[in-house]
Amino acid sequence: MQIEFKSLTLPSHGTIALGVYDDLSLTAKGQDLNQQSKEALTKALSLSGFKGKAESAALLVSVAGLPFDRIIVLGLGKKGDKKKASQWARLGGCVTQICYAHKIDSVQVILDEVENPECAVEFALGAKLRHYRFDKYLTQQKPEDKSNIVYVACHVANPEKCQKAWEQKNSIIDAVFFTRDMVTEPANIIYPKSLAKKAQEMSNLGLNVKILGNDEMKALGMGALLGVAQGSEHEPQLVAIEWRGGKADQQPIAFVGKGVTFDSGGISIKPGDGMEDMKWDMAGSAVVLGLMQALAARKAKVNVVGVVALVENMPSGTAQRPGDVVRSYSGQTIEVLNTDAEGRLILADALWYVQEQFKPSTIVDLATLTGAMIISLGYEYAGVFANDKKIADQLIEAGQEVGEKMWHLPLDEAYNKEMNSDIADMKNISGTRAAGSITAAQFLQRFIKDGTKWAHIDIAGVSWTKKDSPIYPKGATAFGVRALDQFVEKFYESN
Ligand code: BES
Ligand code: ZN
Ligand code: ZN
Repeated sequence: MQIEFKSLTLPSHGTIALGVYDDLSLTAKGQDLNQQSKEALTKALSLSGFKGKAESAALLVSVAGLPFDRIIVLGLGKKGDKKKASQWARLGGCVTQICYAHKIDSVQVILDEVENPECAVEFALGAKLRHYRFDKYLTQQKPEDKSNIVYVACHVANPEKCQKAWEQKNSIIDAVFFTRDMVTEPANIIYPKSLAKKAQEMSNLGLNVKILGNDEMKALGMGALLGVAQGSEHEPQLVAIEWRGGKADQQPIAFVGKGVTFDSGGISIKPGDGMEDMKWDMAGSAVVLGLMQALAARKAKVNVVGVVALVENMPSGTAQRPGDVVRSYSGQTIEVLNTDAEGRLILADALWYVQEQFKPSTIVDLATLTGAMIISLGYEYAGVFANDKKIADQLIEAGQEVGEKMWHLPLDEAYNKEMNSDIADMKNISGTRAAGSITAAQFLQRFIKDGTKWAHIDIAGVSWTKKDSPIYPKGATAFGVRALDQFVEKFYESN
């Protein structure tokens, strides 16, 4: 999809899109067109049943007196209400969606009443994010089933400014699409080594990539991660990616991702129904990789390290058993009571590794960690847990700005106690279903050293969507890439 910013001169043919408020009033340019059409436009609008509700769109065809084939009307909501950037993005997504539905290949959008250039650029971003498709395995696709919207012109008051800002958005769009691709790929294509290879390829962008295999991890004593991996034919990988765009002496900020390329549950095997979803149990790692790609592409002025723990969790004759005791890299021992609570085991070693190796000031980890997260927050909000309220607040604020919603949940010694084991330093499940996402976060916190700021984002409910919404076509969302890019830019980059 090509996007261009143009001046407010109205086009002379084709399909245009126009804003309409919820009292059915038009923007200034729309009013001009209405006059030109001798009010046929407002008549068509009132007959269409369209209500101008925010984030909605409808199609009017061949309105008398106007030279356009079609007019898409876009709901702007209440006149006078200031819209957030993320709302403009969703409106952009609505345009793509309606063009899709009506097989429209090119549209000229009249954005004469956006608050500022940033909002127009967000609109374009939303249009593009909604355009994502993963169709590489559809070999019998008919041309009419293919995405056909290829061109969007945004007519704005300050096209040069918008065009410049738009060019800078490419890095984040590419990163989101990379992450969505990785999450969508099936587990026979994306497994620890193939995903590590994708990370390795990022060294082209000036990222320093280091990959540890089985032997290196064994030598370091990463018994928690290796215990999960031991049932699979696929060798586990631990990937560390460094971006050094800040001052030489600046302590890095670290992002750590859960990368279970397939989670069958292991010997504590999951039910068959829906097990295919567990190909996306590596979403946390794909977000970290996408984020590192975005930061490098836009040459972020900050030191960042990304660490992803990549394993496949399978049942087999060599798989770990419920009841096994493993020794983590930190030295703490863990009684593995349920082999399906594997994400916390691999993160335990990855978190320790990033601290030993890179001494970060702050760590943010992302993981599709618990089904309980979906029970508590559903598919709308990710859960944030933190040992420092400020980082939780910063993450939530950054998320709000890009439309990735997060909710702060508590940590507490009372929950922590639930993870004590009779025969090891801790067990990997609490043993009751109560507060499952919190007890998982408490487990992770046992691997954070005193003085390191840390937040954990449980993205189990938000990494995949079963229905289309304005900026997320159904499938992988890449939730976290844009929020964390914003988090880094807003709170950590030196300008
Ligand atoms: N990957 C799952 C969590 C998950 C479930 C993510 C559904 C997305 C959708 C995780 O490894 C897991 O299986 N967790 C268990 C933990 C339990 C055994 C304490 C769970 O949530 O059931
Ligand atoms: Zn699991
Ligand atoms: Zn899992």
